[in-house]
Parts: sequence; C-alpha cells; structure tokens
Amino acid sequence: MRTGTTWSTARSSDLFTRSRRVIPGGVVSLNRAVEPALAFARGRGSRIWDLDGNEYVDYHGAFSPYLLGHRDPDVEAAVRAALDDGLTLMGSGTTPWEVRLAELIVEHVPGVERVQLTTSGSEATFHALRLARAHTGRDGVLVVQGGYNGWHNDVACNVMTPLAEIGPRVSPGEYPVRPMSAGVPRSVQREVHVVNFNDLPSAEHVLARRDIAAVILEPVLQNVGVIHPQPGYLDGLRRLCDRTGTVLVFDEIKTGFRHALGGYQSLAGVRPDLCTLGKAIANGHPLGAIGGRADLMDLFADPDPARRVLIAGTYNAHPLACAAAIATIEKLAGRQEEIYGHLEGRGREMEEGLRQILAAHGVCGTVARQGSAFCLYFMDHAPRDWHDIAEHHDFALDLTYRRALVAAGVYHFPQACKQGSISLAHSPADVAETLERTDAVLRALR
Ligand SMILES: Cc1ncc(COP(=O)(O)O)c(C=O)c1O
Repeated sequence: MRTGTTWSTARSSDLFTRSRRVIPGGVVSLNRAVEPALAFARGRGSRIWDLDGNEYVDYHGAFSPYLLGHRDPDVEAAVRAALDDGLTLMGSGTTPWEVRLAELIVEHVPGVERVQLTTSGSEATFHALRLARAHTGRDGVLVVQGGYNGWHNDVACNVMTPLAEIGPRVSPGEYPVRPMSAGVPRSVQREVHVVNFNDLPSAEHVLARRDIAAVILEPVLQNVGVIHPQPGYLDGLRRLCDRTGTVLVFDEIKTGFRHALGGYQSLAGVRPDLCTLGKAIANGHPLGAIGGRADLMDLFADPDPARRVLIAGTYNAHPLACAAAIATIEKLAGRQEEIYGHLEGRGREMEEGLRQILAAHGVCGTVARQGSAFCLYFMDHAPRDWHDIAEHHDFALDLTYRRALVAAGVYHFPQACKQGSISLAHSPADVAETLERTDAVLRALR
C-alpha cells in the first residue's frame, strides 16, 4: 500500500466532470472508461503520474505499445531531430522515412515481402481483410472468440462476450456473432464467423461450409490476457488455409516486436500470408502496418483498376511516427539479445514472484506469460480459450485485485483479464517493488 500518504484523486474527478460535459462518456476510446477513473499527466520509463501527482509503476503501457518504456530517450531524440529537420507531412509521392521503415520491416519480419503503412492497427486489419477479399473473391471472414482485431465492422465482436449470449462450448461449430457496437449492418454480421482459439476442428468446419476470404487471429491471444496457441494449432491453420485457398492473417499488432523482432511468426515458425503490425512498432507513436506476400500486397498497385485495392489516408506513414518506428526498430535490432533478454528476465521474475505470492496466500490462481506479456488468472490452470476463462476465472476477484493494486501504486488496467506489459525500462527493482505491493494486496484481500 502507499505508505504515509492518502490517495487523493480529486483532480482526476474534476477533469472527468468537465470531460463528460463535452465528450460522450468522458473518454475518446470506449475501453478507457474504467474505475477508478484516473486522468494521467505524464509518463517516463516504467512510471506514470496522474493529475494529483500519484505515481504508479505502469503495466498497462497504454494497451501495450511501450515496449521500450515511456519517452524512450532514443525514440524521443529521433522525433525531436525529425521536427528540428523540418520534417512535416507531405501528402505527395513518397518520403525517405517511409521507405526506410518499410525496408526495416521487410528485413526483420520473415513472412513480409512488401509493406503498407497506416496510422492505426484497426486500419491495418481493415486493409488486410479488404486485400484478402479482393484476392479470393470471397466475402466471409473467420475470427476467434476472445481476439480483438480493431474497431471496424468485420472484427469488432465477441471479445469478452458473456456465455449467456454465445452459449456453451461447441466443437466443431461456430458461435453467434455479438458485435461490440450498435450500427454494425446485419449484412456484415452474416459474413463474420466466430470460432474458439485453439479449436482447429471448428475452423475446418467453417472453412468447409462457408466462402471464407481470410482467417484473422492474434497468434497469441492477448486481448483476454495471454493464451498460447497449442502445439500444432497455428501450423494446422496454415495447412487448412493452403488447402482451401484462404488468406491467413496473423494480427501481430500486440505480439509483433514485443516477443521478437520478427514477430511471433518468427518464434512459431509459421508464416501467415499477411500480418498486421502496430503498437510496439513505434513505441507509443501512431503507426500501423500491413505486410506479407508480394503477390497479395501488389494488389495495392495492380495496373487493372478492377483488381486494384484502395489504400488511402491523409496521415498514413506520418513522418514523425515513421521516425519513431525507425528509431524503435533500429534500437531493437542493434541490441536484440540484450533487450529481449531483459524483457524475458523481468517477465520470468514477475511470473515466479506472482506464483510464490499466490502459493503463500493459498489463492487459487495461475500466471500465463509470453516474454514481457503476462496475466494472472484466478483459476487453477492456464486457459486455452475464451470459454475456459468465462467458465473458470473469478472475474469479481480479478477486478477487486486490480483496483487494490492501482490504489497501491501499481497500474494494472482495472478490467478483468487485461494483459500486463513489461518494458525495457522496467528494472529488477521495479519488479521487486511491484511484487512487494502485490503481496500486500493479496494478503489484505485474502
Ligand atoms: C491485436 C490487436 N489488433 C488490432 C488492434 C487495433 O489497433 P488500434 O487500436 O491501433 O486501432 C488492437 C488494439 O488493441 C489489438 O490489440
């Protein structure tokens, strides 16, 4: 717990009062509306500060882009230098920065022969699906339950849907589409097919019965914590897509760069046809990317207008975001072993420490982790899919635990099952301090 101070959040509350008058719900991205409702002022390294000056060790990392930590000095210097050099948006032709960035992605991500650049991850997944539809001439899309691939109509569904709405586990089979938003056309919903992660028979079932253009998924499911692909699952999807002429899209917006410079695909040894990148690619600056097989990607420039796939966007590959991404990737590439070793080391300390605390307090829980991404589930085994979590995880305890941690100065996003993200800026002392506070929180909760 914070010692010697009371935790005041009065300034945050005042700002939310003002915000709600002019911004519907008081937030500009619906998933930012959580309790406690805090307004943040600044961040540096592994730490963030709210408007009242309270300091937190940050494991939210703005939904995980901060692989190098807040305000990484090298990334910040690159952006400042770019501004000083007079780097502004040109909106005509190309720029040296976008070409350099695309070259770096092609060099490091194994399945990528060509790249396109966007402003956000959602735009990247949107374009990947449009490309897959243009290539296959099919409209259907297969998504996985518990995965998040952006806010657009095709994919904004079935992330943490209550079982009452989707029913018990079926395999092989598919689940009803449950959009996360009003206003998604029924015609779009008919083209979306939902199966569980790690359920190959269900993917096979759907691909045999529907005209599916693309299978899109996070190769490690990280929007409901951390769920690993079971052995054979990603290869199985690869074979299935090859057999049915379906485009396999790995959404590596969370996993790319965080787990390896070459993305999770380089660790799994499975090559998607397309992948989408974002978040850690620019360490907190707004950038997304689509990459993949040249024959598919070249549809973005097909000489036949009837086959050509539109990509457009005033802010695509904004030069400042490109400068940030180049600096991020060059830093990762130049110090690969050291940086990924550090991330794995802190991740392991966190995992082992949390396990010991759970055991010491006799709390039923498990820690799932991939490198620097981790999640504590209040259930007795690592989950294999969303149904597993929905059936066994103690959601109420999770939320109470997270809120208590926030009050104790450890910022875990106060929503059940949200992944924790460790950065290069997190030191062994940060992890030790976090574990100490976690121990106190769990002791009090027990
Ligand atoms: C796996 C994944 N795909 C896509 C997105 C959408 O990216 P953005 O929020 O940049 O639009 C997210 C965002 O959380 C994500 O985690």
